[in-house]
Amino acid sequence: MSELNNIVLKILSSGKGILAADESTGTMTKRLESVSVPSTSKNRLLFRETLFSSKSMETCIGGVILYDETIKQTTSSEKTIPELISKSGAVPGIKVDTGAKVLANSPKEKITEGLDGLRERLKEYYKLGARFTKWRGVYVISDEHPSKLSIFSNAHALARYAALVQECGMVPIVEPEVLMDGNHSAEECYNKTSEVIQKCYEELIFNKVDLTGTILKPNMILPGSDSSEKIANEEVAKLTLKCLTNAVPAEVPGITFLSGGQTEMEATKNLNLINKLNYSNFIMTYSYGRALQQSALKFWSKDINNIKGTQEIFNHRANMCSLAAQGEWSEEIETK
Ligand code: 13P
Repeated sequence: MSELNNIVLKILSSGKGILAADESTGTMTKRLESVSVPSTSKNRLLFRETLFSSKSMETCIGGVILYDETIKQTTSSEKTIPELISKSGAVPGIKVDTGAKVLANSPKEKITEGLDGLRERLKEYYKLGARFTKWRGVYVISDEHPSKLSIFSNAHALARYAALVQECGMVPIVEPEVLMDGNHSAEECYNKTSEVIQKCYEELIFNKVDLTGTILKPNMILPGSDSSEKIANEEVAKLTLKCLTNAVPAEVPGITFLSGGQTEMEATKNLNLINKLNYSNFIMTYSYGRALQQSALKFWSKDINNIKGTQEIFNHRANMCSLAAQGEWSEEIETK
């Protein structure tokens, strides 16, 4: 087994998943301001350090995706953040794209940037302790979107990124996120997501990326957030599995879902049903940002020095997600 495949398995095995704590300073500022906490570098560190020193880090979190600011910060006990994460047995990771910008000749769509100088930045992150990375491409759904141009351009960038990351000895998370925004049906989400993912693998293979040393981070198959269509959670699980088993090559070891605006409960319930039904060989687990942090952030904002209470909320959410990653979650356990 390759070293990269070992890293993937270390992150995703035994019901573990990923904590996506890689919000850029702009996004983190929005999150903190939404709960009336000033977005200072000290407060951003305090919240994140609180999560990263929780008990569930040892049992439920196999990897943490960091942002450039955080990977360079030092904790109150003089450890670096990657040291704190590694001490719990989890693997430190880093977001390496520099954000989604307007796509030339298709102004309603975006292309993710960050390839220039990437090799040098990757070497620096490796030295800081990162062993996996994330790059997110975003796609909108409407009658004419995502366009072929957006599907091709983002797949090409994701593949060039993944090849560079493996060259530097780290595991790339390939994240093509088809956004939930809009009034499209689940069927449209299924069709467009399938096309997007297939194109990503075409490009990854063309760029000679070792798929056994990668992780896919997709959206689940859901109707748009403004759609009147309501589908059962069982149907979400069925469509999501069908889409992924058809579009993802069998060598890919693991799939970690983003929560993408689902509530904590929806994201847990859907992941649980996906795993109950999982007839593939893929590990199917979480790489949640909001669906792991929302309640903890709300609680913390009332008293930012209540570390223990915040950690209890986070531990509960992480435990529920971990059970869902094994198809063992239930509403009774949730509310017990
Ligand atoms: P959400 O789970 O909040 O969608 O965030 C995951 C992520 O990393 C998006 O890139």
